[in-house]
Amino acid sequence: MRMFHKAFTSTLVFLFFSEVVFSTPPEDPIQCSSGNTTCTITNSYGMFPDRSICLASQVLYPTTEQELVSMVASAARSKSKMKVTTRFSHSIPKLVCPEGQNGVLISTKYLNKVVKVDVAARTMRVESGVTLKDLISEAAKAGLALPYAPYWWGLTIGGLLGSGAHGSTLWGKGSSVHDYVVDLRIVRPASPQEGYAKVESLNEQHEELNAAKVSLGVLGVISQVTLKLEAIFKRSITYVAKDDSDLGEQVASFGHAHEFADITWYPSQHKAVYRVDDRVPNNTSGNGLYDFIPFRPVASLTLAVVRTSEDIQEIVGDANGKCLSAKTTTNTLVTSAYGLTNNGVIFTGYPVIGFQNRLQASGTCLDSLQDAKITACAWDSRVKGEFFHQTTFSIGLPVVKNFIEDVQKLVQLEPKGLCGIELYNGFLMRYVKASSAYLGKQEDALDIDITYYRNKDPMTPRLYEDILEEVEQLGIFKYGGLPHWGKNRNLAFEGAIKKYKNAEKFLRVKEKYDSEGLFSSTWTDQILGLKDGVTILKDGCALEGLCICSQDSHCNPSKGYYCRPGKVYKEARVCTHWRSK
Ligand SMILES: Cc1cc2nc3c(=O)[nH]c(=O)nc-3n(C[C@H](O)[C@H](O)[C@H](O)COP(=O)(O)OP(=O)(O)OC[C@H]3O[C@@H](n4cnc5c(N)ncnc54)[C@H](O)[C@@H]3O)c2cc1C
Ligand SMILES: *[C@@H]1O[C@H](CO)[C@@H](O)[C@H](O)[C@H]1NC(C)=O
Ligand SMILES: *[C@@H]1O[C@H](CO)[C@@H](O)[C@H](O)[C@H]1NC(C)=O
Ligand SMILES: *[C@@H]1O[C@H](CO)[C@@H](O)[C@H](O)[C@H]1NC(C)=O
Repeated sequence: MRMFHKAFTSTLVFLFFSEVVFSTPPEDPIQCSSGNTTCTITNSYGMFPDRSICLASQVLYPTTEQELVSMVASAARSKSKMKVTTRFSHSIPKLVCPEGQNGVLISTKYLNKVVKVDVAARTMRVESGVTLKDLISEAAKAGLALPYAPYWWGLTIGGLLGSGAHGSTLWGKGSSVHDYVVDLRIVRPASPQEGYAKVESLNEQHEELNAAKVSLGVLGVISQVTLKLEAIFKRSITYVAKDDSDLGEQVASFGHAHEFADITWYPSQHKAVYRVDDRVPNNTSGNGLYDFIPFRPVASLTLAVVRTSEDIQEIVGDANGKCLSAKTTTNTLVTSAYGLTNNGVIFTGYPVIGFQNRLQASGTCLDSLQDAKITACAWDSRVKGEFFHQTTFSIGLPVVKNFIEDVQKLVQLEPKGLCGIELYNGFLMRYVKASSAYLGKQEDALDIDITYYRNKDPMTPRLYEDILEEVEQLGIFKYGGLPHWGKNRNLAFEGAIKKYKNAEKFLRVKEKYDSEGLFSSTWTDQILGLKDGVTILKDGCALEGLCICSQDSHCNPSKGYYCRPGKVYKEARVCTHWRSK
């Protein structure tokens, strides 16, 4: 075992420091068997939470709004189900699946042009398939910047609005990109008299913008979006690692104190890394760059070795090994400043100061040389690499301290229980603000992002299965967390729509824009509370997050796992190994 740890540790170090040049672009999530017909659609991980992939009869690639209108019209005339899809399909749940097998996919892959930059008004109008990466770089050329954004630049504007994506701040209008939308054009089905499709042009005067700016894709196809930007500015970033004993006390005030604050928490290591991140005057010297290490290309060979090591740790129940690997990973990330450099080349010390466009997001694993299958994004499903679940919810600031303390109690009872998530960089905790979007955040909150091992075999529980399930149920049910629409396992969406005070208003707009539900599917109806069945009951369902267990068969008794109450949150029902107390 010792030898093994050593090998694993050096692999990780290699993983983080290897300079890699050649990278393969991610596969197209849409594959068709004949031309652009008889297609399958999946996400960038190659699999939905229930391990299915979805079918469609064809894929269409509009390049202009006029083409888009005629495509929606012809599908609407034949009453075909439709779904909007994007170049990479980065959402985990089944948002992009049309109903049945005969649906039509409308891809925004070539709807990717910048329409207009208005420097004086500080706005930018883009087509919905523009990626965050292109948005950031085009805005910067005009001396403008989006103040807050997701940290991963591989998302499209349409997709990140569709799923309510965000960065981190409690300042201004908050960190959700949709709260910076000043107008938006959406193509939706219409009556035969109107030609079966029409464009709605919505601005801040229209109530309906509050539905369209976080729409889950069910209102139609967003063709263009205008975003309010700012004059480009500089930031100063310092990561400060501290003991986590007062984390619960600190979390709200830290978020108010620093404009771009976030916290990465490693509960088993009793450590929290505070991102002290503020705006500084434009003339402060520094040309820092953020190239987040986990979003860099990784050698496919390395990915396979790391995955195999983790598989072995899981099989033999090597909790100590996981804790050791977690420590090495965290130390490597912390000492290499998570991928920050002072000048684009090396990290020489804090603070790292630079322009917003170089610090706000990254994702170099997407940069590509066709056919060079040497490196990939760590989660690329074509290579043996990371395969995980992601649980992401936002908890209201007034109660988040209690959530943190409950997790700390769990760690006290089971000190190695959360080492596994620290291999995936712990709990990423970011600030979000109450939004005017009907399906946006309901109050100022802390969004908590947790990534953890998923076995290729759906019936195999993970190490400390029960602890992870309890954290998930604590966040989502005890503390009423709102699940991120673009992440999570099915159970997180159970009753979620009831947490949105304007859900009814959203449904009224949906009824008006698409009364026949052509852009809806069973999954979107379920998460919108229109149909039952968000959770799926079957053998082993709790292991996959398809259900909360209510009987032992939902766990896997043949492997020694039974459905039991939580350790701290007694109302939780989790799959526990008979040997654990
Ligand atoms: C590595 C990684 C990092 C991430 N980091 C963050 C982060 O920092 N913050 C965060 O909040 N999230 C993050 N996410 C999650 C991410 O926000 C969502 O998965 C994302 O918004 C999906 O964008 P997409 O362009 O891939 O859209 P898709 O997943 O393809 O689509 C999402 C939804 O939007 C709809 N849609 C897409 N385009 C349109 C359109 N033009 N008109 C109407 N509907 C449309 C789709 O039908 C679907 O319902 C991350 C994901 C990954 C893989
Ligand atoms: C599929 O659609 C794309 C984009 O419109 C087009 O370039 C390609 O030629 C189509 N393929 C076939 C076989 O029709
Ligand atoms: C900062 O400098 C850039 C040019 O380098 C300029 O476009 C921008 O407007 C300046 N921002 C502020 C806040 O003064
Ligand atoms: C930045 O500019 C301000 C005036 O706008 C000046 O007072 C200050 O000294 C400058 N700082 C640096 C580091 O040049």
